[in-house]
Amino acid sequence: MNDLFLKACHRQPVERTPVWFMRQAGRYMAEYQAIRRKHSILDVCKTPALAAEVTLQPIQRFKLDAAIIFADILLPLQAMGLNLEFVEGKGPVIDNPIRGEMGIVELRAVDGEAFGYAGEAIRQALEALDNRVPLIGFAGAPFTLASYAIEGGSSRDYARTKQLMFSQPTVWHQLLSKLSAVVIEYLRVQSRAGAQAIQLFDSWVGCLSPADYEEYVLPHVQSIISALRVEGIPIIYFGTGTTGLLPLMRKAGSDVMGVDWRVRLDDGWNLVGHDVAIQGNLDPMVLFSSEKEIERRVRGIMQQAAGRPGHIFNLGHGILPTTPLHSVEFAIDCVRRFSQDESAAI
Ligand code: CP3
Repeated sequence: MNDLFLKACHRQPVERTPVWFMRQAGRYMAEYQAIRRKHSILDVCKTPALAAEVTLQPIQRFKLDAAIIFADILLPLQAMGLNLEFVEGKGPVIDNPIRGEMGIVELRAVDGEAFGYAGEAIRQALEALDNRVPLIGFAGAPFTLASYAIEGGSSRDYARTKQLMFSQPTVWHQLLSKLSAVVIEYLRVQSRAGAQAIQLFDSWVGCLSPADYEEYVLPHVQSIISALRVEGIPIIYFGTGTTGLLPLMRKAGSDVMGVDWRVRLDDGWNLVGHDVAIQGNLDPMVLFSSEKEIERRVRGIMQQAAGRPGHIFNLGHGILPTTPLHSVEFAIDCVRRFSQDESAAI
């Protein structure tokens, strides 16, 4: 198997920097759109054969070094009793959001049995991958999940989420503990089905101050990561807008820190320390510019990584729906061209 990605997670030297893209399976691909014309996003996620097929689509088309299982971070919220829907042009909508202590008490504390489809999707994707590249499992981190559960969908200012956090801290911690327990179950199912790494998406945690992150979020992420340590697979912890939080996020204990483009890769790496691997961090919007510009930006990131072991090339956030395919292919080629042979340097 191509194990560049796993080696980089462990900060072992590699002959070439591994590359994969968050949301690499999705609407920018015609073959994904073809499946979505016939099936809803939730159907694709919950039908293992479809989830496995979509997982493989970007692997068949591009020279990627890892696959990520096709699923969504919001699936565990649905299992816990929230009514999840994806509305065209609006994104996720939950029509019975949590508005106080009662809502939290009523949330179901489901175990791994609720995620049988996720394990089966991983098994089928692994079979189809046939050891070409490793398969990444994933889940939402508790703050980001809580924000959807409380706001009832995407949000700009996280007003209700912060209101609960600041005004009822005990209730907040109850909610995050409950979410964390389900996230652990969900990730355990994926790991036991054979996922070779896992990523925790804390996409919106960057809206918090360092002090609030440390008090209201960090202990919960620590508990998830320490519970999953026994699985023996690398754990990636990713958020956006996290420049001011990185040293604290590092304390969550992941093997790899994911960073977006709002921080230089070398500055981000300095902030978390070189005893952890780093993943990132091309602005996904760069893929809408010229080849010359894409090349310049990829080279910049590779120069900042400076051939140190432990860099996984990725975007700073998910690939956008109208991204040109040739730009994706071109960016991957640039990473390959600008890769430094670390094994030769040692
Ligand atoms: O990376 C991959 O290829 C795996 C698939 C994946 C999806 N969602 C499928 C999906 C992953 C890793 C996710 C994670 C996810 N989901 C996150 C964290 C990553 C991030 O972007 O911050 C978040 C916040 C969600 C919640 C979510 N799901 C939103 C906000 C939306 C609507 C977004 C949009 O662009 O319309 C979704 C739906 C969703 N999940 C899509 C995909 C490919 C778009 C769905 C479609 O209509 O086909």
